[in-house]
Amino acid sequence: MGPLIDRRALLATGAALGMAPALPALAADQDARVRALLAQMTLDEKIGQTHQPAGGRQKALNSKIDATALDLVRKGGVGSYLHVAGAAFLRELQRTAVEESRLKIPLLFAIDVVHGFRTLYPVPLAMAATFDPEIVRATARMAAVETAVSGLHWTFAPMVDIARDPRWGRIVEGAGEDPYLGGVMAAAQVRGFQGEGPSSKGLAAKDSILACAKHFGAYGAAAGGRDYDSAELSDRTLNEVYLPPFHAAAKAGAGTMMTAFNDLNGAPTTANTALVRGVLKTQWTWPGLVVSDWNAILELINHGIAENPVQAAALALKAGIDMDMASGVYAAHLKTAISQDPSLSPLLDQAVTRILTAKMRLGLFDDPYRFGDVEREKTVFVGPEHRAIAREAARKAVVLLKNDGGLLPIAPSARKIAVIGALATDNLSQLGSWKARGQVADVAPLLPALKAIAPTGTEIVHVAGAGPRSDDETGIPAAVEAAKVADLVLLMVGEDFDHSGESRSRSDLSLPGAQSALARAVLAVGKPVVVLLPSGRPLVAPEVLERAPAVLATWFLGVEAGPALADILFGKAAPGGRLPVGFPRATGQSPTYYAHVPTGRPADPDLAKDTVRYHDVDIGPLFPFGHGLSYASFAYSDLALDRDNVAPSGAVKVSLTIANTGSVAADEVVQLYVRDPVASVARPVKELRGFVRVTLKPGERRRVTFTLAAAQLAIWSPEGWRVEAGKVEVMVGSSSADIRLRGAFTIAAPGKAREPATAIPTPVSVA
Ligand code: BGC
Repeated sequence: MGPLIDRRALLATGAALGMAPALPALAADQDARVRALLAQMTLDEKIGQTHQPAGGRQKALNSKIDATALDLVRKGGVGSYLHVAGAAFLRELQRTAVEESRLKIPLLFAIDVVHGFRTLYPVPLAMAATFDPEIVRATARMAAVETAVSGLHWTFAPMVDIARDPRWGRIVEGAGEDPYLGGVMAAAQVRGFQGEGPSSKGLAAKDSILACAKHFGAYGAAAGGRDYDSAELSDRTLNEVYLPPFHAAAKAGAGTMMTAFNDLNGAPTTANTALVRGVLKTQWTWPGLVVSDWNAILELINHGIAENPVQAAALALKAGIDMDMASGVYAAHLKTAISQDPSLSPLLDQAVTRILTAKMRLGLFDDPYRFGDVEREKTVFVGPEHRAIAREAARKAVVLLKNDGGLLPIAPSARKIAVIGALATDNLSQLGSWKARGQVADVAPLLPALKAIAPTGTEIVHVAGAGPRSDDETGIPAAVEAAKVADLVLLMVGEDFDHSGESRSRSDLSLPGAQSALARAVLAVGKPVVVLLPSGRPLVAPEVLERAPAVLATWFLGVEAGPALADILFGKAAPGGRLPVGFPRATGQSPTYYAHVPTGRPADPDLAKDTVRYHDVDIGPLFPFGHGLSYASFAYSDLALDRDNVAPSGAVKVSLTIANTGSVAADEVVQLYVRDPVASVARPVKELRGFVRVTLKPGERRRVTFTLAAAQLAIWSPEGWRVEAGKVEVMVGSSSADIRLRGAFTIAAPGKAREPATAIPTPVSVA
């Protein structure tokens, strides 16, 4: 059996990450109720609370709730179900628990609502591309309403894993490569799911559901981008890059967290006491509920740290896993584990307390039926308000990667438009990888939307040509013929929804199927071509990204995909999304990220010099983090810092003027980067520390002010967060590679900080 606690890691991993949790403690009377209940529970009933079986399958929710399942509920043998839904169905299931079990403890109903319940909105990577936490919050709120109305209490979202390797299929589920952006997006989603602002009712407010930040640890650092693979990380990278979004989610009040499937430096997260019990529960003092990932407790045997399920149960409980998702190991083996090792007994009490506390926070002990509403279920799903939010989110998520010669928006002179590519009619893909209860029939498709918005008399034809799931090239000649007679081609090539997501890692990021051949043939016709690039990750497609004059990254946009794309293409809305992760030039460049540390031999274009680069590909990504063009142009000017010197506990105000110098109203994402040029350890060449998406009319100017704290420059060390004295460079620009203004200030003296620098949000005002 492997070591239970790596004490060295416990000391090294985030010591002094202390924080004040935003999830409030239970009121004294509620806490007393939890304690009183716990005191009445038998060992079997306690273990029952930790058991979360699947009530169905993802594609057949509720299908496993049969007579045997109901009997187990009556015996108090179930604490929660996942993969269930429906107000009427869940009311009856809850009734069984609260009327027919001895202690009448309500069940928790959970599901993956990752980018919408019935009204699907853009996939999370696309939502991160909005660089707009308010629309992110609004979509999560809308999803919470639909989820709660359907009788569910808990979503397994947000997914906040940093992903710097686009080969990893789950990059689609998170906010991309940057921990600051990741933290802001994590907090926005938690606020959306769990309800508006602090209220005296907290999670017991109407239509609030529990959020679950996942997959705690370093799931996104899986080696080679292979899903489930090991993460080998330094303590610094863990603390500065991978953990901060979880810290931000905790600070926003996230009620639950899920642990990662993989191991970190050899310690499987499901049994990583130093990380889960040590960092999350003890150092961060976060009081929420920890659930394992699917079957992960049993998989400790595959990891080679448990010989049998009894040992696996003991390891997971020691590590601080409160609830067992789907493996059934706690239910079947925890009793034996406790009889062999009575010191586990108080740990079980702690786990059950966290579970009962979550139920108490939701108000389920006062009214177990407060979720689920059969009448509202008929009206709120995909209602007009929800569609409006989904449409705004989809428009905001689109990123204009290129627009040579101002080809977009489409000019009225384009009378004949050929839409080419099988993906242009693949409505299912617009739903993305986590569909919850999404229906393909709800997707407003592209072609009718284009026809509806195009000037009267415009002829729009579609030819599939080729698609992402087949190497069949026989449709290409017809596509070429359509291109020849068109004034403009809209070429939609990329991935479908099932190329990314869980267990969908790819070793090659090029266009799948016969789409490369299609793209080359269509571009060879010589007509103006606008490429629409749907995907759940950065793609490496030089045949279109380098050769087509205009390219839009369109991700998977949800139920309003068609109208949102039509709005952007015809200029009813200007694109303003930004890349939350860079697009590499070649798959072999992965992982690559803008916030790398400088080396002794910085990359140089001169191949005669020996520098940190590949010989067969240009330096850096093709499109960098933060990149995105607009139909307008913007001028940055008048950078001012309100002081030259700041105390380690102080802050500096960084102001600048942004002006729309174009001829249409449009959004600009103003980005603030910092660098510590000389420090005790090498610091990244650039790190995002603030951003704001501003809408400006032609000629309009605004003054943007960021308030940057010295603590946001803190460096992790085994002893805690250290603020070092010295110069700090400030850069403001339109992407990580398009810096328009530079300044500097000095941190006057060394000091200490309390939390991860990237988890501190930068206040920003726009005047
Ligand atoms: C995924 C989780 C998900 C769970 C329940 C697992 O396979 O890794 O993200 O929440 O299934 O569906």
